[in-house]
Amino acid sequence: MFLGLDLGTSELKALLLSDEHQVLGTAHAPLQVSHPQPLWSEQHPQDWWRAVQQVMQQLQSQHPLAMARVQAIGLSGQMHGAVLLDAKEQVLRPAILWNDGRSGPQCEQLSRSLPKLADISGNLAMPGFTAPKLMWVAEHEPELFAQVARVLLPKDWLRLKLTGRAVTEMSDASGTLWLDVGRRQWSEVLLQATGMRLDQMPQLMEGSDASGTLLPALSAQWGLPAHVVVAGGAGDNAASAVGMGLVQPGEGFVSLGTSGVVFVSGDRCVPNPAKAVHAFCHALPGRWHQMSVMLSAASAVTWACHRLGYADEAALLAEALALDVQRRIQAPLFLPYLDGERSPHNNPLACAGWLHVRSAHERADLAYAVVDGVSWGLKDGWLALDASTQSCEGLSLVGGGSRSQGWAQWLADVLQVPLRLHEGGATGGALGAARLGWLAVGGVTEEVCIQPPVAQVLGPRPLEADLAQRYNRFAQAYRQLYG
Ligand code: XUL
Repeated sequence: MFLGLDLGTSELKALLLSDEHQVLGTAHAPLQVSHPQPLWSEQHPQDWWRAVQQVMQQLQSQHPLAMARVQAIGLSGQMHGAVLLDAKEQVLRPAILWNDGRSGPQCEQLSRSLPKLADISGNLAMPGFTAPKLMWVAEHEPELFAQVARVLLPKDWLRLKLTGRAVTEMSDASGTLWLDVGRRQWSEVLLQATGMRLDQMPQLMEGSDASGTLLPALSAQWGLPAHVVVAGGAGDNAASAVGMGLVQPGEGFVSLGTSGVVFVSGDRCVPNPAKAVHAFCHALPGRWHQMSVMLSAASAVTWACHRLGYADEAALLAEALALDVQRRIQAPLFLPYLDGERSPHNNPLACAGWLHVRSAHERADLAYAVVDGVSWGLKDGWLALDASTQSCEGLSLVGGGSRSQGWAQWLADVLQVPLRLHEGGATGGALGAARLGWLAVGGVTEEVCIQPPVAQVLGPRPLEADLAQRYNRFAQAYRQLYG
């Protein structure tokens, strides 16, 4: 039995997996994000720990027999966040999250002072990444910065609580800007350029390595056996890929979560900083991946749902996607940059907005525009990936947004790629984490990282020329505003 913990932004999920690929139970605990100032996005690590306690207690009361047979735990989590610890391993301030945009000036400064940044890290300096967050802290909270003895990524702070060990793994470390992604090791040059030291970094491992064992007191508290191994795990996107068995070159997925991600696995590091593509290590040794990240995807639909007064996202999607082709063609455009954008623009200050609105437009037209704008934004991300990936056989579709059949089909049409819906796709990160736990105690990649059954394949339909034309208008609108 293996347990996966996935520390998301809006909830923490836990999943119990048997060695026959059976998901025996899941548990969820909600999380809140605070925005104390414009561009800021923070969570307190103690809230994550409370969420861990909740899900473990839920699993213990609902699945005591399975819990008593757990051999390994795997961790998955929201990437890039900075958890700052003092010499006594106490948390110094709320964690600064992946979608926090405050460190734009530090990114500009770093790009100027270290022109070879992208050659070493494979990536562009973007405010979401960890290193610029630390530069911001050094500048704005110098007394606190002086106390920083260790920086951990969100799921790695949970590992510290679970095992007492400060460890990270390659896929999540790739999002710090301190890793030489091609060589899979910390880079002294990158650390120095951002005012950091190697001794502040956690130990580096592969996602499928064993990073430690669960503390005895926790095993006893949650009804787990002694000596449960905790695996390296992965950043949530690489973990989702492992959960869907997408680890071979050319295999990939689109995720419609809070963020929107297009992810493709590879067997080498392929940077494309010009398009703000993420070139990261995969969760398995000797593998990498490319990834485009848009900051507001399903979250833009949730935002519109509240602002336009829909009962829920499903109601918005149903009304929006029921519009006929003529109304879609004439609908306003929507730029989905509610929290700035990463791929392909790397512009933390970009804003969202409806454009070309006329008095005849109704609520459904505005709602349609949002779904349409997020979809074109994902197309931007897809086209930014290496050209060789455009010929792939299809992508898996995951994340909360994939529950809407209408949106899933529209996305297949927009990307002009077949999209696969898997059974159990919503548990991607936690499932991947559990699988990495399995690998850490001797599981074999080919047997563990299999693709879950495909529930449905949505083939791309040809788009009406005027509808397809909306992509050019969308791209042009960004250029006119920010180009
Ligand atoms: C990836 C990224 C997001 C978070 C969301 O670069 O920032 O996908 O990992 O949890």
